[in-house]
Amino acid sequence: MGRNSIEVNDCFNGETIDQIIHKKIARRTLLKSAVAFPLISFVSSFLHGPSADGAEIDQLRFLPIALNNEDRVSVAPGYSADVLIRWGDPLLAGAPQFDLANQTAAAQAMQFGYNCDFVHFFPLGSKDSAKRGILAINHEYSNPELMFPDYDPEAPTKNQVDVQLAAHGLAFLGVEFDGAKWRWVRNSRYNRRITGETEMTIHGHAAGDALLKSSYDSTGKRVRGTLNNCGGGVTPWGTLLTAEENFNQYFANQNSLSDSDPRKAMHARYGIPAGSSERLWENHHARFDLKKEPNEPFRFGWVVEIDPYNPTFTPRKRTALGRMKHEAATVVVAPDRRVVAYTGDDERFDYVYKFVTNKRMSQRREDNFSLLDEGTLYVARFDVNSSGDGIGRWIPLVAGQGPLAGWSEAMVLINTRGAADLMGATKMDRPEDIEANPLTGKVYVVCTNNSLRGTPGQPGTDPANAIAKNAHGHIIEITEENDNPVATHFSWDVFMRCGDPAKDEQNTYFAGCEKSKVSALSCPDNIIFDRKGNLWIATDGQPSSLKRNDGIYAVPVQGPDRGYVRQFLSGVVGAEVASLAMTPDDKSLFASIQHPGEGSKNLDPANLTSRWPDGDIPKPSIIVVTKADVIGT
Ligand code: FEO
Ligand code: CA
Ligand code: CA
Repeated sequence: MGRNSIEVNDCFNGETIDQIIHKKIARRTLLKSAVAFPLISFVSSFLHGPSADGAEIDQLRFLPIALNNEDRVSVAPGYSADVLIRWGDPLLAGAPQFDLANQTAAAQAMQFGYNCDFVHFFPLGSKDSAKRGILAINHEYSNPELMFPDYDPEAPTKNQVDVQLAAHGLAFLGVEFDGAKWRWVRNSRYNRRITGETEMTIHGHAAGDALLKSSYDSTGKRVRGTLNNCGGGVTPWGTLLTAEENFNQYFANQNSLSDSDPRKAMHARYGIPAGSSERLWENHHARFDLKKEPNEPFRFGWVVEIDPYNPTFTPRKRTALGRMKHEAATVVVAPDRRVVAYTGDDERFDYVYKFVTNKRMSQRREDNFSLLDEGTLYVARFDVNSSGDGIGRWIPLVAGQGPLAGWSEAMVLINTRGAADLMGATKMDRPEDIEANPLTGKVYVVCTNNSLRGTPGQPGTDPANAIAKNAHGHIIEITEENDNPVATHFSWDVFMRCGDPAKDEQNTYFAGCEKSKVSALSCPDNIIFDRKGNLWIATDGQPSSLKRNDGIYAVPVQGPDRGYVRQFLSGVVGAEVASLAMTPDDKSLFASIQHPGEGSKNLDPANLTSRWPDGDIPKPSIIVVTKADVIGT
């Protein structure tokens, strides 16, 4: 057994996955003995689990803050928020210091990347596992106008494009708490950068398909890089799932394909630009130009699995989870040990999906590294019954059956949107994160907004997307039949209709909570549950919808305070709070402050709306929030 295996076993405190599952189930049965308890284990419970000493439903006692427009992070009284790492910080051994005027791709590939998004804490060691870990972070996209002093959007240079490719991808960093502060570890063996050029492999039934072959890769099984990694998830076996989202924006010239070429309509359905791309990367890299490489976009839009405990692991694109603008990939384990991954397609009028593995999870970690390659992909349909109660179905996308007669399995995975279009799935208001409550098993689907809902020529409202021109978004609460995540039927309810209740009494709803008590909240995006089953929400869009900074909120989903949402943190000007993660003891909260200053035309000081975090130019950064107790108390 190598050093890597020892570390990983340590992170599970030396227990087998089976032992952990049974312990979690026993705990939850204690916690909720009055209700038929779901025999489900969640990844967050594997790594975070509710405390054995009995958690209370709601221990949120922090004083809420108010919306603001300050160019600093504000947080509830008693908490501190510190910058952990920022764009350009030298991450790998030998990395140069950040030099704004002399950026190179080689330097950027060793430094912390741009626009940090999904963040997750992987514990290290059995002792103090909440004090030492690996932070896994997505670098979703780049704002070149805020990266280069001389950027010309009409004519980006090759160096500027190459730096941006290197600023995409992911970062892994060793982190530790020294008793006073969190710091990232400069010489950690886990420190790693993955970029838009990192070699990775393609797995599952679409691997090797003709549509995945390019002049770079005649096998259809190798690909350079991962792009637009937005949300993600973690598996019970301790790997990261990173979700490729708006990959369409990197490609150009869809209209160079003939109308009779079926690839043209597929690329159009996924939003590949007809002519040049806004980024103009195609000027310097043939693979982004469909005139030269018409299949390259098929090699993006996947969920990618990476082992953070093995810094030499080759990332694997998992085609079985379908191809879309994946927001997240949230894994839960069914009572029969099949593994379920929920994922949403973040586009106006696109769908919510779940994937169920064929095989059962093994106790041996390595056995699970191919588990996500075989299974059934489902798309969600939301209806109401004659009593007006929400009911729903998971519709399997099975090649060769019904409307998918004539489709190959690979085609269903590559053209997942096209397959779902034929199956009567419900067109949603931009499904962002989807998470399962570790205490109840209920699944929360965040619909961030949809300005086009109910406008001329667009789909009208429906029971699950009931607000026309949905400016503030809503959150749906799903209960799987028999509380089993492999169920094909579910019931659902609206948990929250977001907005400012003081200004919009009619359209806002906070799970029945008295509206005068709650904080205004708009455009929910990424969510997590703490160990007590409270929901934490990060927003993306308040600068336009509420004219205030985005933030982090917390809300109980059970008990007398259900729906009582309170603002915990406010981000900085122009930024979204793109993701958040707690340590296993819930005492530290990591969050991504993404695209500070976005909307500024360029780095000219006269144009900058944000100079966070250092007072000079805006830099996307990870912050860590602490106090000497559990976050939220
Ligand atoms: Fe990158 Fe759907 O947010
Ligand atoms: Ca997001
Ligand atoms: Ca978003």
